[in-house]
Amino acid sequence: MTDKNLVLGGMLYEGKAKQVFTAGDGDLVLIHFKDDATAFNGEKKGQIENKGVINNRLSARFFRYLETEGIPTHFVALINDRDMLCRRVEIIPLEVIVRNIVAGSLAKRTNQAEGTELGEPLVELTCKDDARGDPLVTKEEAIAMGAASTEEIDRIRTLALQVNEKLLPFLLEKKLKLVDFKLEFGRDRDGNLLLADEISPDTCRFWDTETGEKLDKDRFRRDLGGVKEAYIEVWNRIGDFRSSET
Ligand code: TMP
Repeated sequence: MTDKNLVLGGMLYEGKAKQVFTAGDGDLVLIHFKDDATAFNGEKKGQIENKGVINNRLSARFFRYLETEGIPTHFVALINDRDMLCRRVEIIPLEVIVRNIVAGSLAKRTNQAEGTELGEPLVELTCKDDARGDPLVTKEEAIAMGAASTEEIDRIRTLALQVNEKLLPFLLEKKLKLVDFKLEFGRDRDGNLLLADEISPDTCRFWDTETGEKLDKDRFRRDLGGVKEAYIEVWNRIGDFRSSET
């Protein structure tokens, strides 16, 4: 599908880390990954050298793997270092967070130590709304605000837990602990739910299994240094070097 004659249209949307353009005959989009990094709902801004390249390629790696494991995703093809072709979806305005280990906002909210293992994975829903700090919502609130139907929320929860089950051993093999991650879902033209957005060190917490070192965007959020090196390390561990595709 890396068709050189791919027709590109105008920009549909620009987010903090990506731009989205219409592509093909209207049911595809081209997603362009930038080096821009933000934290705390856009309050902190910066750049991470080559983050766009790594997040584009890593997301492709994860989406391909998850597709082979039966998870429907928006991914179609890698186009180049920073661009990915995807099915066009209507994004459901919820952030779906899955946690295996206490960290970040859960540690703050519940006053538990970061690093505490959760007995069962925890799924949280938040509203995709930076201006209000992506507040947590219950399933009932998400349905009442019209974000998704009851059936969609149930399916999203099932898919999110399946993604977790597939990613945990895949990452463990690369000596990475999957602490938590954020997913987004969308509906295609026929109303099918697809895993969308990206899966990368921007949207996951990865800790080295031996040293506990943080290898994700927390290095930027918390000014820990070694930010770009952490992204490169994740790429070195899980990049798809055998793929002949760009
Ligand atoms: P949190 O502990 O700050 O709520 O973050 C949970 C996970 O979600 C973590 O892996 C980082 C990811 N995340 C995003 O992808 N986007 C966001 O805006 C936030 C706040 C977190």
